[in-house]
Amino acid sequence: MHIPVKNNVTWVGKIDWELKRFHGEEYSTHRGSTYNAYLIKEEKNVLIDTVWIPYAQEFVDNLETEIDLNDLDFIVMNHGEIDHSGALPELMRRRPDLPIYCTAAAVKSLKGQYHGDWEFRTVKTGDSIDIGNGKSLVFVEMKMLHWPDSMATYLTGDNILFSNDAFGQHYAVNHPFNDLANQEELYAECIKYYANILTPFSALVARKIDEVLALNLPIDIIATSHGVIWRDNPTQIVEKYAAWARDYQEDQITLLYDTMWEGTRRMADAIAEGIRDSRPNTMVKVINIARTDKNDVITEVFKSRLILVGSPTIGKGVTNATAGILEMLECLRFKNKKAAAFGCYGWSGEGVPRIRAWLERAGFAIADEGLGVLWNPDIDALENCRALGRKLANA
Ligand SMILES: Cc1cc2nc3c(=O)[nH]c(=O)nc-3n(C[C@H](O)[C@H](O)[C@H](O)COP(=O)(O)O)c2cc1C
Ligand SMILES: [Fe+2]
Ligand SMILES: [Fe+2]
Repeated sequence: MHIPVKNNVTWVGKIDWELKRFHGEEYSTHRGSTYNAYLIKEEKNVLIDTVWIPYAQEFVDNLETEIDLNDLDFIVMNHGEIDHSGALPELMRRRPDLPIYCTAAAVKSLKGQYHGDWEFRTVKTGDSIDIGNGKSLVFVEMKMLHWPDSMATYLTGDNILFSNDAFGQHYAVNHPFNDLANQEELYAECIKYYANILTPFSALVARKIDEVLALNLPIDIIATSHGVIWRDNPTQIVEKYAAWARDYQEDQITLLYDTMWEGTRRMADAIAEGIRDSRPNTMVKVINIARTDKNDVITEVFKSRLILVGSPTIGKGVTNATAGILEMLECLRFKNKKAAAFGCYGWSGEGVPRIRAWLERAGFAIADEGLGVLWNPDIDALENCRALGRKLANA
């Protein structure tokens, strides 16, 4: 299946409706995904990226219906990750002499993963290749967005930015153009992708956007490697990224809790009541972290200005789900957010101080020393929870 993008540029990727998990079990893909690859047929015939390993055979067979593989002049690998390079070994098996244009870091990542003795041609920011008919490809390194090897490729004349993972989202759509997608679903998948994958690199994202805008390249289309191709007002997603990259937050407070015997859950509900009493317009979400998709949890944290994390003390520590989320929070390195801890305990009560220390390590500003409740909360303890909510609502 091939989809025309513009003039001599064709989408030759794979729509994966079945994908439910990505990066092992680390990222949920409720709405599937696409692996976008593109064929440019000018005087030179160029392939941009490939697809994930399970679709390698299918991809190259499909590509052959569009072009004789011997007529390909080179391939551009914008990123070495397997969801885009997975079909490279199959392609190279059939065209062993095909030159691969990529960053120096991508030579390392591709060799490190496939151990292929292929013809690499290293490019860096500003390098360009004439592909005939007055058009050329210009490369822009996108170091750490989100791997050291990442880059974007710009096609002059057609004004298409092949941005790879940047501006993408895991979203299967039959006709992958932004104007044809359900806008709410599209937005939800974009912000989830940013929150879960790009948050640690926000400073780099902000700088890179400024750098690319300063080049004054006309951008008619942003052709990403997952989800939709941005052709209707493509800079809308750049503006979103610019906002998300600057320590994004809404007027939202999110309570994340786990519980064994409902005490910590009752604390969460009472804290939420206190916030409502004090600031009725603040968006408050109360989430059982053991029963909620972890990436959806992270997206809610991304939108929050303050989070509260609650766990009962178990085995002198916190529950499994609480530790999992705290580890994610630490790795994502959120900035400009406040946090506090809460939870029930029976005797030693290590839970709350442990969560507080972990939140601090993760870069959150501690808004309150937190609240531990001995056994199940009584009327007084619940009132203390409401008071904490009222206080933190205005933190
Ligand atoms: C398996 C298990 C281990 C526990 N370990 C501890 C502990 O090490 N220290 C402590 O203070 N309380 C411990 N507790 C007691 C709980 O923290 C206490 O029952 C608390 O009220 C439970 O809160 P919850 O209703 O939110 O589950 C443990 C309880 C269970 C079931
Ligand atoms: Fe990637
Ligand atoms: Fe990707």
